[in-house]
Amino acid sequence: MQKVVILGTGGTIAGTANDPSRAWAYQAAQLSVAQLIEAVPALQGVPLEAVQVAQVDSKDMSWSIWRQLGRALHVQLARDDVAGVVITHGTDTLEETACLLQALHDGAKPVVLTAAMYPATSPDADGPGNLRDAVRVVQESARRGLGGVVAVMHGCVWSAIDVRKTHSHALDAFDGGGAPPLVALAQDDRSEAVWPSAWPACGRFGWGYLEVNPPRVEIVCSHADADGWLVRAMLAHAQTSARPLKGIVVAGTGHGTLHEGLTQALREATQQGITVWRSSRVARGGVLAREGDEWPAVPHLTAAQARVALTLSLLGADHAG
Ligand code: SIN
Repeated sequence: MQKVVILGTGGTIAGTANDPSRAWAYQAAQLSVAQLIEAVPALQGVPLEAVQVAQVDSKDMSWSIWRQLGRALHVQLARDDVAGVVITHGTDTLEETACLLQALHDGAKPVVLTAAMYPATSPDADGPGNLRDAVRVVQESARRGLGGVVAVMHGCVWSAIDVRKTHSHALDAFDGGGAPPLVALAQDDRSEAVWPSAWPACGRFGWGYLEVNPPRVEIVCSHADADGWLVRAMLAHAQTSARPLKGIVVAGTGHGTLHEGLTQALREATQQGITVWRSSRVARGGVLAREGDEWPAVPHLTAAQARVALTLSLLGADHAG
């Protein structure tokens, strides 16, 4: 039987609280991935290997941690005795990591991200159930010949590009931005989950993209009184910075519309060679391209995911999902 490798990166799933009755007073990224596995009776006897890649609150996710993760995935996925990989992650930037890995992975084997909303010491901890489900999804995907990147949370399997955190504290904090889950996992023995014949296609750009230093790409938001001051401040700084601005993702209102003050500043950015992509600050639906668009619309991705996609595009990997 092939193994499932579990790569730990931290998050609330590995979080602990001194007083478990105070739900939000906890520290993320305290327990090792080996300890997380030990806490799941259903995983006893399952051929698993644990590798601690990082130990962070995912609000602090960085390109250098992604590089470590990419190196670990490269090694583990190449092993003949490995069916696929689970990554334990924080919920806060899970959608960015998922989108990045989906662009780079060759899609040959399953890579499943999972997380938790409640820390491991909570009486209602959701991490053990999510970890059990994630391992099962790797095993079942491998059995069905499915490869790619998905996220497993609260009984649902989400596409790496659709997945996003849409609630700050509910247990079912994730959704697909309007797209349904790829699979609703059966929570009892009586019902059968319906599985698709393939996971969404990967970008196949390769882990090597993580070895170079990324260009600076920032997110700006359109809002009342958005007069472009922030964009002009970035442009002024770009003249002297060692790592100058190369791209802007603008999170527009509604269907990606922009305040006229911000629009003018973004035109100045474009004239200075900055690449601008347009997404939406709205959680679901995305921005569809229209004839005559001044800047490309990023269909479906969140602004944070679009920042990852634009970074990769500037590096030469054009995969906006
Ligand atoms: C984190 O993203 O690491 C902290 C929050 C969470 O995992 O829910």
